[in-house]
Amino acid sequence: MENFVINGGKELFGEVNISGAKNAAVAIIPAAILADDIVRIENIPNISDVSLIIKILDSMGAGVKLINKDTIEIDSSTLKYQSVPYELTSHFRASYYLIGAMLGRFKKAEVAMPGGCNFGVRPIDQHIKGFEMLGADVDVVNGMVCANAEKLVGTSIYMDVVSVGATINVMLAAVLSRGLTVIENAAKEPHIVDLANFLNSMGADVRGAGTDVIKIRGVEKMHGCTYSIIPDQIEAGTYMVAVAACGGDVLVKNVIPKHLESISAKLEEAGSEIIEYDDAVRVTRFKPLNKCNVKTMPHPGFPTDMQPQMAVLLSVANGTSILSESVWDNRFQYVGQLTRMGANIQVDGKVAVIEGVPELTGVKVKATDLRAGAAMIIAGMVANGETVVQNIEYIDRGYEDVVEKFSALGADIKRVQVPDYEDNTVNVG
Ligand code: EPU
Repeated sequence: MENFVINGGKELFGEVNISGAKNAAVAIIPAAILADDIVRIENIPNISDVSLIIKILDSMGAGVKLINKDTIEIDSSTLKYQSVPYELTSHFRASYYLIGAMLGRFKKAEVAMPGGCNFGVRPIDQHIKGFEMLGADVDVVNGMVCANAEKLVGTSIYMDVVSVGATINVMLAAVLSRGLTVIENAAKEPHIVDLANFLNSMGADVRGAGTDVIKIRGVEKMHGCTYSIIPDQIEAGTYMVAVAACGGDVLVKNVIPKHLESISAKLEEAGSEIIEYDDAVRVTRFKPLNKCNVKTMPHPGFPTDMQPQMAVLLSVANGTSILSESVWDNRFQYVGQLTRMGANIQVDGKVAVIEGVPELTGVKVKATDLRAGAAMIIAGMVANGETVVQNIEYIDRGYEDVVEKFSALGADIKRVQVPDYEDNTVNVG
């Protein structure tokens, strides 16, 4: 078992390189099976969610070759149809993209209901509705999602909620269908656009990704390609918030500044200075932090996946801030950990009222999910004294070399082995 041990109170200086986007990689890698061919994917983040999806494809008979640290080749010509059991899907949510990808390729799929971070009910009704409207029969039997179609035929699908996962899954199922599929009220996140670009590089015909209407004209066949994944918006945002919270001056490199606009705007409001370059942003903060109100929204709004990290910053800002969560029902589970460090936060449903305190104090805290874990690291770097972060396997799901990257900026953070008998119980997720 491992923990992070952080000695806080240091400002951050230097440069950090952002890795490929987790939420794009976990969609693009399963999408590779839509071509009966070899696909080369570059800028793959080295994180455990990606290792898991690669392991699943490998177990299904796809030839997965590691070319170098961040490049893989997937040969799906050897892939066999098979059901994907719970042992493989239980650890992460995005395993459900195998339903769309297998339905597209084989016109059938049997995939166990996924696991993943727990912040409220995570229904998949919009995914199922999309598959059914394309002509599939979908049943959930003994925890397995079973989808079968004689043929998939394009149609117009209105999403009742803006859902990243359902938009992606319908895109995956529709690219090899007959005719035109129109997804209305589609999600617009950067990884939706990245997936569309990838599918088009494989010969698909997807237009409108990044707007709320996506049009997919089905093609007969897709082919291999070489594709490079976009930089991770949330990893970049996490480093930006860390610098703003700790103080200092850091160049965050290999980013698409446009994807970071909502985060930059809030950090400026809170007292940081942000300078945008072509593929980097520089974050500087030497003045005291100000309160600011933040509401999470689907893209281009402020990302829900940055909400816990922002809560840490607002915990030590002057004044009272209101942080509203409008995507997930229960994404404030980490607040108890922050209040143990001295933060003054009251949660009422999907709203947190954060009264800034002069300082946080290091204690033992748990990562209750991936982004909450990132927030605990930032809190530890802001706090006086030593913070121990437990359940760091959540953080390893989505942050490549987090210790190395923060250490290079001057943080005092170490990964330490702890005996298994220490209380490290994962109580959520
Ligand atoms: N929803 C439904 N029905 C559905 C699907 C979603 O009601 O069929 C609801 C959800 O309950 C939620 C809202 O719609 O209230 C948005 O959910 P969405 O489907 O967009 O989320 P997701 O696809 O399961 C992805 C990211 C999450 C991120 C959300 C929102 C991946 C693998 N995960 O989840 O990322 O929070 O979009 O942006 O892309 C993370 O990276 O830490 C993470 C949790």
